[in-house]
Amino acid sequence: MVVSGSVTPGQASFLLGFVPVLIAWIYSEILEYRKSSSPLKVHSDANLVEMGNETIREDDRAVLLEGGLTKSGSARFHNSSIRTNLIRFITMDDSFLLENRATLRSISEFGAILLYFYVCDRTDFFLQSTKKYSRDLFLFLYILLIIVSSMTSLKKHHDKSAFSGKSILYLNRHQTEEWKGWMQVLFLMYHYFAATEIYNAIRVFIAAYVWMTGFGNFSYYYVRKDFSLARFAQMMWRLNFFVTFCCIVLNNDYMLYYICPMHTLFTLMVYGALGIFSKYNEIGSVMAVKIITCFLVVILIWEVPGVFDLFWSPLTFLLGYRDADPSKSNLALLHEWHFRSGLDRYIWIIGMIYAYYHPTVEKLMEKLEESETKRRVSIKTTIIAIALLAGYLWYEYVYKLDKVTYNKFHPYTSWIPITVYLCLRNVTQQLRSFSLTLFAWLGKITLETYISQFHIWLRSSVPNGQPKWLLALIPDYPLLNFMLTTAIYILISYRLFELTNTLKAVFVPAKDNRRLLYIFIAGIAISICLYSISLVLLQISQTVVRHMTNI
Ligand SMILES: *[C@@H]1O[C@H](CO)[C@@H](O)[C@H](O)[C@H]1NC(C)=O
Ligand SMILES: *[C@@H]1O[C@H](CO)[C@@H](O)[C@H](O)[C@H]1NC(C)=O
Repeated sequence: MVVSGSVTPGQASFLLGFVPVLIAWIYSEILEYRKSSSPLKVHSDANLVEMGNETIREDDRAVLLEGGLTKSGSARFHNSSIRTNLIRFITMDDSFLLENRATLRSISEFGAILLYFYVCDRTDFFLQSTKKYSRDLFLFLYILLIIVSSMTSLKKHHDKSAFSGKSILYLNRHQTEEWKGWMQVLFLMYHYFAATEIYNAIRVFIAAYVWMTGFGNFSYYYVRKDFSLARFAQMMWRLNFFVTFCCIVLNNDYMLYYICPMHTLFTLMVYGALGIFSKYNEIGSVMAVKIITCFLVVILIWEVPGVFDLFWSPLTFLLGYRDADPSKSNLALLHEWHFRSGLDRYIWIIGMIYAYYHPTVEKLMEKLEESETKRRVSIKTTIIAIALLAGYLWYEYVYKLDKVTYNKFHPYTSWIPITVYLCLRNVTQQLRSFSLTLFAWLGKITLETYISQFHIWLRSSVPNGQPKWLLALIPDYPLLNFMLTTAIYILISYRLFELTNTLKAVFVPAKDNRRLLYIFIAGIAISICLYSISLVLLQISQTVVRHMTNI
């Protein structure tokens, strides 16, 4: 097994954190097994443990961070400090391990998945094959999936409108997830088969995701008005927890996974837009000023020459990207960030505007459904006709442009296909109430499938490389290989989605800001410790190697 490149301090820290947790988890399983198989209590404190186990609720289970431990949430341990817990972990205190068995298991599983990522992408343990595009196969697979999911997972929903109790008319969750799902499948297949001819469509899909970020976050903050630190931390965790570890373990830049920084940025912008002077959000004119300000900020940063670099250069360490491909390595470090964030710079604001008018439109649509048949049919026909015409014109005059020219127009035109889709998808009550739940299921794990594809489905093989190859578990059988890698890949993505949520519940407590702060500080302290130890160890090992080669 050849490992490309040398071990980085980040990778060494990951191992230093992972191995003790893995051992602790295995030991805790043994303890649990002994406890349940023997009628006698193994330990004097076993009674306490059982009590503890029962009283700990999902949300405030004792917590453990990157191989270290933080304050326990269960009532009895509420006063124990992070240090006490750390000591209990290091000394492998039985009761402590038993209490935190589930968390230890989740962390171990998460670590094991990352090791699998490393083995697939950074070693030559498995082979790689090249991408091949055949429009026939591409369409065959995609349409097959649509047929299968229509036959098996078409479901009628009975969501109620918040206003009148009738079936909801505008933008509901199932449809949003279904929309995410079918776009994601095309997006992934585009990567797998190198289907460059649909490049422009993929740009629209990415814009649609950003539109949803604006729409979903606006609706959430506007209605719930929950700008709390905990909620904010949970959102950041959801967006960035997994990708952070991918960057560490695979030694990649954050920008390689550009979707993550992009959604983080636009989520922050929506949060900022609504959170600042949030008391006045109900006032229409204040909201108009806020929206206009958003546009002005975007125009200032992205359209005025020079401002972008000035504004973002302090964050180059985070947002810089140097492609492993030598032909692209002469580009400026911030080029990728400029390109990606620039393409969708306006669409999140459009999403916010749509979200703002959503209740109004919903009411109008309810009225329309109640009106007499002739009126209803004529209005709907008009809407369909206008949407189709707009879609056609966009397709003819914008979509068909070559990719470089298209990208120039994209920021200003991507709202057109999105709006057309929204109109057509919602035009009748039947269309609105049905969704394909298979696609909705896939739509829930888009972040995980997006990140995982680079390493366990495709292959980039070097740090900061674009995934140019396919992972080959069954060489010489491209279709069988496609099936097997896809099955493993989707399964792992789903597990990652669940693990992110499980660990979020443990490490990002919902109601206790002080505990959240403690956990945060402990996490940083532990990371620094692990990192320093790794640096020293790597230094020592290098010196040793140098000595050996000298002899
Ligand atoms: C309108 O269509 C979009 C796209 O599928 C969907 O997300 C949204 O839920 C739909 N709205 C209504 C009212 O059904
Ligand atoms: C806000 O946007 C992010 C990024 O798309 C998303 O993951 C999150 O679920 C959104 N939040 C809400 C409340 O819709």
